[in-house]
Amino acid sequence: MNEQLQLIKSSIKSIPNYPKEGIIFRDITSLTEVPEAFSTTVNLIAEQFKHAGITKIIGTESRGFIFGAPVAIALGLPFILVRKPGKLPRAVISQNYQLEYGEDTLEIHSDSIQAGDNVLIIDDLLATGGTLEACVKLVQRLGGQVKHAAFVISLPELGGEQRLRKLGVEPFTLVD
Ligand code: PRP
Ligand code: ADE
Repeated sequence: MNEQLQLIKSSIKSIPNYPKEGIIFRDITSLTEVPEAFSTTVNLIAEQFKHAGITKIIGTESRGFIFGAPVAIALGLPFILVRKPGKLPRAVISQNYQLEYGEDTLEIHSDSIQAGDNVLIIDDLLATGGTLEACVKLVQRLGGQVKHAAFVISLPELGGEQRLRKLGVEPFTLVD
């Protein structure tokens, strides 16, 4: 592993039994508190996708906002928020999904994606892939396509990467 990835990995704290017994929570707040680790994370993702023909970036509430927004600025692309229910003010479409530790719904503004959009979805962490699958469905229902998704952390044992590939989405992750 190179020095940049080592810095990112060493900045992520692991908290056992949070938010439930048996879950090891990978905490990115300890990463954003290290400026060089945070900026390196954003730069590596932006670098990876600068020539990928992406037209829009999606960040998923809430930790996806932290990494998605600065990557969108770095690439000069629109930043679209996928949010939990009842938070977006204009007309929305909704999608239910399963989490590693629960169930939830995500929403997107109906007018934020157009046919032909090639969307990059960014989140802090890929676990089961349920959140990402819900986002992909939201984009596809609005006529867009998702070929790539980027994560700071992947938990490979939870099967998210295979789940994404079955949807035609190639995951890019910085640390496992
Ligand atoms: C976490 C994380 C990812 C998702 C990953 O979000 O930020 O979005 O879970 O899990 P999955 O691959 O099994 O779907 P969470 O819903 O806990 O919301 P938060 O970002 O607001 O804490
Ligand atoms: N989201 C889903 N599973 C998680 C985990 N183990 N750590 C941090 N965020 C998560």
